[in-house]
Amino acid sequence: MAVLRFPEQERAVLDEAAIRAELAALGIDYERWDLSRVKEDASADAVLSAYDEEIAEMKRRGGYVTADVIDVNPETPGLDMMLARFDKEHTHSEDEVRFILAGRGIFFLHLGEQVVSVEVDPGDMLRVPRGTTHWFTLCEDRRIRAIRWFQEASGWTPEYTGSGVDGAYQPLCFGPVYLGKRVTSGLSV
Ligand SMILES: [Fe+2]
Repeated sequence: MAVLRFPEQERAVLDEAAIRAELAALGIDYERWDLSRVKEDASADAVLSAYDEEIAEMKRRGGYVTADVIDVNPETPGLDMMLARFDKEHTHSEDEVRFILAGRGIFFLHLGEQVVSVEVDPGDMLRVPRGTTHWFTLCEDRRIRAIRWFQEASGWTPEYTGSGVDGAYQPLCFGPVYLGKRVTSGLSV
């Protein structure tokens, strides 16, 4: 299950219903989906077929036209370059929708005056609306497998804010124990 953190308040939310409610109040959809539909080593096609209904329903909800499966691990060629595209604060002109099948990562969401982080793990579905200022990084095992939805077949491009805010937050996953205290020096290496 996800861990929702408010670093400025040194507050973490660990209860599923509370996470859903707090994120909903911030305009972010969060749900827990059944993971037992496919085995961990299922092919991308098998995953898309197993979650056919959810994929179709999500397309209706958000006007998405395509879905795919992203699958990266430490051996993925160009992983550092791929991660570097998304770990700086940016926006997209379309929603960022992910259902996590394996691995862990952290979304940092810069909402008004505050930054909140959502550490996602398998079974988490997160929908970040278009235009939301955010950045994303993987956890230490550098592994993530997720279903993604897109509004345009051409995919989506990050538009960087260049604010440097991302450098002020520790991009490390510690599970429920870690409260994500703000740090003063850039750790985004
Ligand atoms: Fe993004």
